[in-house]
Amino acid sequence: MATEQQTQTQDVDSDGAGRNGDSLTVTDNRTGKAYQLPITDGTVKAMDLRQIKVSEDDFGLMAYDPAFTNTASCRSAITFIDGEAGVLQHRGIPIEQLCEQSTYLEVAYLLIFGELPTRPQLERWTFDVTHHTFVHEDIKKFLTGFRYDAHPMGMLLASVGALSTFYPDAKHTDDPEERYMAAVRLIAKMPTLAAFSYRHNMGLPYVYPDNALDYSENFLSMLFKMESTFKPDPRLAKALDVLFILHADHEQNCSTNAVRAVGSSDVDPYSAVAAGVAALYGPLHGGANEAVLRMLRRIESIDNIPDFLERVKDREEKLMGFGHRVYKNYDPRARIIRSHVDEVLAATGDNPLLDIAEELEKRALDDEFFTSRKLYPNVDFYSGLIYEALRIPTEMFTVIFAIPRTSGWVAQWLEMKDDSEQKIARPRQIYTGERDKDYVLIDKREGPEKIVGPPARRPKFPRRGA
Ligand code: CMC
Repeated sequence: MATEQQTQTQDVDSDGAGRNGDSLTVTDNRTGKAYQLPITDGTVKAMDLRQIKVSEDDFGLMAYDPAFTNTASCRSAITFIDGEAGVLQHRGIPIEQLCEQSTYLEVAYLLIFGELPTRPQLERWTFDVTHHTFVHEDIKKFLTGFRYDAHPMGMLLASVGALSTFYPDAKHTDDPEERYMAAVRLIAKMPTLAAFSYRHNMGLPYVYPDNALDYSENFLSMLFKMESTFKPDPRLAKALDVLFILHADHEQNCSTNAVRAVGSSDVDPYSAVAAGVAALYGPLHGGANEAVLRMLRRIESIDNIPDFLERVKDREEKLMGFGHRVYKNYDPRARIIRSHVDEVLAATGDNPLLDIAEELEKRALDDEFFTSRKLYPNVDFYSGLIYEALRIPTEMFTVIFAIPRTSGWVAQWLEMKDDSEQKIARPRQIYTGERDKDYVLIDKREGPEKIVGPPARRPKFPRRGA
């Protein structure tokens, strides 16, 4: 077929190739025309497809990728993942080294500023975060408005969003000082809001932050302090700090994408981070750690594992804590968490659910259904067991995930703000509905009932939210 060659000129060499000289030639079989698209960093630009048209008034070709399964939405220098090899690095440093040698606050600095801090830099950062852990007293009043049994993640979501009303200057998103203050406040106040949500659920008085304690010790203190002095077990505080490091960032996951998408509207960072909390709430994302514990309790004993796995294979159940969009190998975070479970249980006492989890993992990794789909334990498979050993109620698990992920959300939000290629996030769609229909008067309309279920009346039995 005869071809007419067209070349895209943006960001390309004179021969139409990308920065490294690579290009892709695409032939549109509708027209016989060939197009040379530059390849840069292993990608073609979706906008380069737009020039591919059947006629002058054709809109041009678009890329269709409903769940972003093969679409890079940004350039990022924060977190590197090699999902096939099971590698995770922050600013180039392997997660194993960070868990071994660093602290959560230092990792938060690394994510946000791009380099490990010097000693004075770390001292200043730690001081600033530590001295912004208190929340306005009106936030306390706001939290008391929730039902006693409100899910703490819902409370966290609302209270993070509410922070924007306490710091209205944060809407000056180009002001470096406002950006820094938002970063500090979000990282500092998240544990306080999380702990207040827990104390509200328990009907206990809120415990104010203790600036003499480190980040994870202070969180344990705000959760559990009942008397005037409280010294958390250093083994448990250390394990929690490692969990915080492991959850700090994970490149373009669902909640980070939500923070970037909402932040791209130039809303203040508290509102953008509230969107991240909302996304994390879902059981396919951060909510999976809670779902894992509920699943292990439902399985109840090792004898029930074969039946359970059969139900997973029959699609009646999902093996929560298994599988990942990016990792097609053992999630390195799961490996590190697993290595800390035993030392935590040594401090707190055995948990029979660990035996079930280990046997479940062993059998799944021996089963063709899981191996052929490259389904391995992810970060959520063992983290819940540590939280449970710390006597943290199941409903708090995702809240605890949100605390450290805040530093990742903030780092990604800052990177997005400084990226000249970014604009307001606004995907295209393939419209599948009808067009150009006439409005029909109500008496002339017919058709089957669309509303299913009982009429919207007061329920027979009292129901939450009725
Ligand atoms: N149990 C059983 N089957 C599974 C599971 C699972 N946990 N995960 C994936 N599969 C199957 C899935 O049914 C599909 O099978 P088939 O090709 O025959 O239809 C295949 O594996 C590929 O799965 P997918 O749904 O296309 O993969 P995805 O990349 O869209 O989903 C996931 C990734 C994490 C949402 C999914 O693996 C899942 O739902 N896992 C359980 C929930 C979970 O543990 N989430 C935490 C993720 S890590 C932390 C975080 O992100 O917060």
